[in-house]
Amino acid sequence: MLKLRFTSGIALLAATVTACGLGNPPTHDAPLPAEPTMIGFADPSRVGGLSTRTITAKAPSRRVHITYPTLAADPALSHQLHAEVTAQLRAFTRATRAAGPTPELNIDWQLSAVSEKIIGVRLRTGEFDGSGWSDSQRTVWHDRPANRPLSSTGLLNGQAGLTTLAGLVKARLKDRKHGVDVDAVTADPNLFDSLAFNRKGDLVAEFDDFQVGAGSLGRVAVAVPRAQAAPLLSAAGVAARAAAETPAVADVPPVQVLTSKREHTRSTDFGETDCAPRKCVALTFNDGPGAHTPRLLSALAARGARATFFVTGSNAIAQPDLLRRMRDEGHVIGNHSWSHRNLAALSANRIADQLGRTQNAVHAAVGQTPTLARAPYGSAGPEVAMVAERMGLSLVRWNVDPGDEYLRDPADVVRRTVKGARPGAIIALHGVSGSTVDAMPTVLDELTRRGYIFVTVPELYGTQPMMPGQTYHAGGPTATTARLR
Ligand code: NI
Repeated sequence: MLKLRFTSGIALLAATVTACGLGNPPTHDAPLPAEPTMIGFADPSRVGGLSTRTITAKAPSRRVHITYPTLAADPALSHQLHAEVTAQLRAFTRATRAAGPTPELNIDWQLSAVSEKIIGVRLRTGEFDGSGWSDSQRTVWHDRPANRPLSSTGLLNGQAGLTTLAGLVKARLKDRKHGVDVDAVTADPNLFDSLAFNRKGDLVAEFDDFQVGAGSLGRVAVAVPRAQAAPLLSAAGVAARAAAETPAVADVPPVQVLTSKREHTRSTDFGETDCAPRKCVALTFNDGPGAHTPRLLSALAARGARATFFVTGSNAIAQPDLLRRMRDEGHVIGNHSWSHRNLAALSANRIADQLGRTQNAVHAAVGQTPTLARAPYGSAGPEVAMVAERMGLSLVRWNVDPGDEYLRDPADVVRRTVKGARPGAIIALHGVSGSTVDAMPTVLDELTRRGYIFVTVPELYGTQPMMPGQTYHAGGPTATTARLR
């Protein structure tokens, strides 16, 4: 019953994205018309040389999680994206100085279009300033042959194109939702900082919360039909439209949440080690995969150590080859949500979206659906546990936290991790942090010298089953939680 209700909720969510007020049932010959303001995003795993970077807070007083792509062939784009997100982080840090509820900044990304000529990266920002949420987006374009970043208005033929576009958008918004402030639409490049194309070549302009009306309006976007938009485009705009119209990659399949088919997870599902008579620790790596993951995997493999990786869906879908390497080298892959938002602050539907899309992304990469999840920031209320249970996910916390994401010196990571280790511990680390990965060879060697072996989380529990919806802090004799700061 619960599962049925859940599944239909997700189907409804997906339907609002893909269909729009159809009078007749669809047939095989007539595909569903797309909602015109939906951008036909490209599959990042098909883009050669793409890796991801993660930026987190320097102190626990703020929740910050930023990811953006880097492309080996387009260094100026990576540089531009880094500059964009760090500017946002600085503004957020300035704006949230006052004490109060923990503020949160979350930025993830999508590829609006990719071709040999041009690439568009849509940075999507969610911000909680202590009192309320706002969402915004900005699309950075990049002229690949010239190695030159462009703002969204770089797709237009100068101020004249922008002025005409503003007029067309204004006309289309007039008879739209109540509450849209049409007079707020002016030919201001900051207002038109997220332009892209749908698969039909219509020009899509998106507005941030509060830009053209109340935040409660939800997403406000306008599609200007191809023929009307065509005269407004620059050469880069024409290239971007062509890239969107002829995607080099298959469409992402519709959302269908994968639930692990199991009553519980036993250690023998993954490994053979019996931790009862031995000193086991479970190293867990959050937030990857990313640019440092290959090095981390090599350090583990060289010492025969297995670990548990809690990956974000947005990183997983971009780098499925790294997930396959994790699987092939004996590690367990767990779910760390799609974009690393504080799940405890989200509705049940959005929690399900964050966890469900990640289940799908991991399954698409490695053919296995996770049975373990770790909530970002370890922040999980009863609704997170309820959704996790329906999806067949056990929630994994930790009892050793070296605080590695705040440490720059690998020697500090080594010292705190080794000091915290004890039989049965679940140690929380961050595989996207360069200093953590630098520290790992020494951590592994030092703990080995002290008689430890490195196992996955389910192995830590031995034959004791891990149940969906339950929370696990540590195995073996250490059931107490300690925070090392
Ligand atoms: Ni995390």
